[in-house]
Amino acid sequence: MLKTQIAVLVSGGGTNLQQLINAQEEGRLPHGEIAIVIANHADAYALERAHRHHLPTAVVEKKDCADNREFEQKILALLEEKHIDLIILAGFMTILSADFTSRWPKRIINIHPALIPSFCGKGYYGLKVHQAALDYGVKVTGATVHFVNEIPDGGEIIMQKAVDVLPGDTPEILQKRVMEEAEWILLPAAAELVAQKIAEEKENANA
Ligand code: GAR
Repeated sequence: MLKTQIAVLVSGGGTNLQQLINAQEEGRLPHGEIAIVIANHADAYALERAHRHHLPTAVVEKKDCADNREFEQKILALLEEKHIDLIILAGFMTILSADFTSRWPKRIINIHPALIPSFCGKGYYGLKVHQAALDYGVKVTGATVHFVNEIPDGGEIIMQKAVDVLPGDTPEILQKRVMEEAEWILLPAAAELVAQKIAEEKENANA
């Protein structure tokens, strides 16, 4: 079986990346293989996690690029070099252009820390999402894994899981509960679901 070659794109702490690594090491990602971890900040702690598990890493920083096009070209070159089939955005805090996403239809997935279509789109990332949910006063929030297209957080939904908002929640407390009860369960499961489909397509194309 030809495994789906996965690139995980990260910006920060990398707890979702860690769950993907755990899934791979525990045999819960049988159709996929993390081939590279790409960070857009050299100090992203996610890189440490990748190093600890001997995964190849790369850093592409916008400040070293003339413009967004060059930033994306550098990422595309790495994806090509590693023969990547699937891109997983695991806390990647940059919106990819339509030019980029149109090259990868149904080949990019993202984890968002809310129940799309609530609290999503441009400007909704990280703790801001949980702050917005608390400000609105929703009693249930959650996480969503979806395909990425040209509309920020607008691609087809793959999986969702609801999480209760509780009295006394702060954005930090809610973020932790959403991660533990939803994100860390959904992302490895969705990764395997999509990786299996791609692996089967590769197998059929090779037959
Ligand atoms: C996660 O909560 C993820 O859902 C969110 O950022 C956090 C990254 O944490 N992503 C977004 O807000 C994207 N719009 P991590 O680096 O520990 O995985």
